[in-house]
Amino acid sequence: MRKTKQLLWLAGALLAVCLTACGSGQSAQTEEVLTAACQGEGATVQVSADVSGGWRADFDPVSVRLYAPEEDGGRDPVAIGLCEGEAEYARRLQAARALPSYTETEEGVTFTDGAGLQEYILDLGENVHYTILAQPDCDAQAVFSRFDVTLTARTPAQDDLFLTLVNRTHKLPDDWESRIRLVDTQNYSQQSIQVEENAYQAFRALQEDVRKDGVQIELESSYRSVERQKDLWAEYEQAYGLDYCNHYVAVPGFSEHHTGLAIDVNLIQPEKDQTDEERAAERAALWAKVHAKLAAHGFILRYLEGRDDVTGYSYEPWHIRYVGDPAVAGEIMETGVTLEEYLNAVEPSDAVVDYGTSAVYDEDEMREAVAAIRAQFDTWTGCELRSVRYAGDQCYNREGVAWLSSVGGGKAYAQCIEFVSDFRSGETGSGYCEPNTDYTDYQWWLARTLGGEWELLSWGA
Ligand code: DAL
Ligand code: ZN
Repeated sequence: MRKTKQLLWLAGALLAVCLTACGSGQSAQTEEVLTAACQGEGATVQVSADVSGGWRADFDPVSVRLYAPEEDGGRDPVAIGLCEGEAEYARRLQAARALPSYTETEEGVTFTDGAGLQEYILDLGENVHYTILAQPDCDAQAVFSRFDVTLTARTPAQDDLFLTLVNRTHKLPDDWESRIRLVDTQNYSQQSIQVEENAYQAFRALQEDVRKDGVQIELESSYRSVERQKDLWAEYEQAYGLDYCNHYVAVPGFSEHHTGLAIDVNLIQPEKDQTDEERAAERAALWAKVHAKLAAHGFILRYLEGRDDVTGYSYEPWHIRYVGDPAVAGEIMETGVTLEEYLNAVEPSDAVVDYGTSAVYDEDEMREAVAAIRAQFDTWTGCELRSVRYAGDQCYNREGVAWLSSVGGGKAYAQCIEFVSDFRSGETGSGYCEPNTDYTDYQWWLARTLGGEWELLSWGA
């Protein structure tokens, strides 16, 4: 009885685990990290595996283990051993699992547990061994050849690397490209793209995971050089205007896409006969399913809804960021903080904001307008914002709305608002201010459609 179940269970394992090549797919970097893991240097190792059918992966000091689902017995049939030298691995495995003894056979080292099951150790390379728990008559080599596993490994130093902050005020570190490895791949439109290698593996695992929920996601874009970001800004400015760029496109040198750790996800939504509202609701539900699984694969949603005051960008459901450790990602996602807040890197804004009194707008509405001003201002390198003041209800009149409608290309705005600010410009100034100059009562004009968001349309001294 037990024997039959065990064999069925192995057959199930063969069907359930569908991974990419281990020996061949494992990078030199992974080898280094596995060595660090073996030597007790605190590296953590992730197995990128299709855990369909309830399989899960775990790590102990000796090996990465793949667990079968409870209904299949719940034992660990396969393990990727982490240790230098077969004998050393066997010794550690014996100690870790309190196994009585091991013997060396032609196939490698085998253990036999009290129930007559054997654990085969197969050599995958210098630092990696592979064990299979099986019946004594199992063809271990044949089983092994059917399991393809990708190991993704991280050292503590890499964990820090994966938490590098790049935003409106934090520039990409100069030596960044020398510290990461990029994988060449293609996006859904068959365009060549590059992704940081750990983020890439994690994305593939995420993609597989959400597929089980009936959701298809694909790579759209990831790594972008500073030059590419310059071109992108120009393309978007021409197509959608400066205001769009200020909300959605990072200034070259300050884009998280330069890290290769940010991925724009292409959510494939099946074509159906739906109203626009139904389609939008379905899309939001699909995104929610994707977002629910991000943390388990080391990703966070980077630009949260309503947090542009901190992140500097409007909500982007498609922009995910690899932070490495799923535990860190989980904490960020569960607490709903931005990466800036998690890293205690929120820029102290010493600019005084005076909302004055208004019979038209409440403070929340004004705060949203100030966030849009801030987003624009933060792109002016070296400029220091000192104060922002509501210019008063008298600015909300028919002439103001009509003027901004013409600035906005004829858009039918319903309301407008004006703020004024004092600031000192930086060494280089910007297209909108002279270098090293004190500005007072600098004007900012915004408008919005009925129920729409504030759009910053005009500013100047
Ligand atoms: N869309 C994000 C903000 C970027 O361009 O980096
Ligand atoms: Zn993005």
